[in-house]
Amino acid sequence: MFRALQRTSGLVGKSFSFQARELASQAAQAATENGPRTVTLIPGDGIGPEISASVQEIFRAAGVPIQWEVVDVTPVKGPDGKIGIPQAAIDSVVKHKIGLKGPLATPVGKGHRSLNLAIRKAFDLYANVRPCRSLEGFKTAYDDVDVVTIRENTEGEYSGIEHVIVDGVVQSIKLITFEASRRIAEFAFEYAKANGRSRVTAVHKANIMRMSDGLFLKCCRDVAELHPEIKFNEMYLDTVCLNMVQDPHKFDVLCMPNLYGDILSDLCAGLVGGLGVTPSGNIGFGGAAVFESVHGTAPDIAGQDKANPTALLLSSVMMLRHLNMRNFADRIEQACYDTIREGKHLTGDLGGKAKCSEFTQDICEKVQRISDKQK
Ligand SMILES: NC(=O)c1ccc[n+]([C@@H]2O[C@H](COP(=O)([O-])OP(=O)(O)OC[C@H]3O[C@@H](n4cnc5c(N)ncnc54)[C@H](O)[C@@H]3O)[C@@H](O)[C@H]2O)c1
Repeated sequence: MFRALQRTSGLVGKSFSFQARELASQAAQAATENGPRTVTLIPGDGIGPEISASVQEIFRAAGVPIQWEVVDVTPVKGPDGKIGIPQAAIDSVVKHKIGLKGPLATPVGKGHRSLNLAIRKAFDLYANVRPCRSLEGFKTAYDDVDVVTIRENTEGEYSGIEHVIVDGVVQSIKLITFEASRRIAEFAFEYAKANGRSRVTAVHKANIMRMSDGLFLKCCRDVAELHPEIKFNEMYLDTVCLNMVQDPHKFDVLCMPNLYGDILSDLCAGLVGGLGVTPSGNIGFGGAAVFESVHGTAPDIAGQDKANPTALLLSSVMMLRHLNMRNFADRIEQACYDTIREGKHLTGDLGGKAKCSEFTQDICEKVQRISDKQK
């Protein structure tokens, strides 16, 4: 499907992420010309429906020209007996290309593949982007952290190739390909350029995994040569972890294979206040992208109006920027930051006593005020 899109849009021969951005931008332009843009909304499990309703309310208050197609991704058994995403949900993302997703419960060790992983695979969402930025008014161990992790999302240790060699011995294959490594490196440099960033650091263990991480690193080095305006350095994963907790201000954009990205992105989220305030985007070919909160379903507080919707809201802000709706993104982000800085209506995880609905209402009022001022 992507090759056909490439041909019809005249983008053959351009870099992977350039193509993806161009296609997204063409889609966004077409949407603006043809009325509101439709986005697939996957509310998810646990607190997912509450935080999704909060985002919808804030979008209404801001007057964002987006309509939601809400889909359920509760696993269903396919004709082959395998459990997977319902076809209607897949069709919705294929059609609209953009999704916003709340957390999904993943039963551990029950032979049922993570739905999060299945969604990433289904839409070839190869780049996971997580900006980790300190929030004014929410004190953490460090101030002014501003780091972006870019994680290869489709292979590495998460390629899902595992087998039993003999009883008591299992093998898991870490798959690294030139194609996936090259496109994530291109994505990282183009992200850095598009977002006014100055440095990309490749994170690896090529001293141990000489062939697999060696290939990943070579792709990063080759792409770095094509972008002399962006500084490039390479560091071992363990050194990055050590330096990150000593002084996170040394880092800007980090590019890495799947497992390292999974771990390091959570470490970075911890520096700015945890998963409840960290947004994320998964970007794929053909402009498809799914933006999601990275925390779990928080079953301990689900249905109690106690959840903090910030992570999903800031993910939706990333989505609006991806769709070139920057003005709406800026207003909503500003209102959210102002609410946190003022500290009058914070949820429990941020040290306050407010309900999710009160926090949401405060952001709605602020976003309306910001919009009125700009009229
Ligand atoms: N992206 C995802 O869909 C995703 C990510 C992680 C975990 N999960 C799933 O979520 C379920 C629960 O996982 P868990 O308990 O390990 O992690 P969790 O993130 O759900 O909860 C950890 C702690 O953080 C709190 N918390 C999380 N998000 C919050 C929010 N937005 N506002 C306020 N407090 C919040 C919870 O109340 C809990 O105390 C599991 O089934 C797991 O597989 C899904």
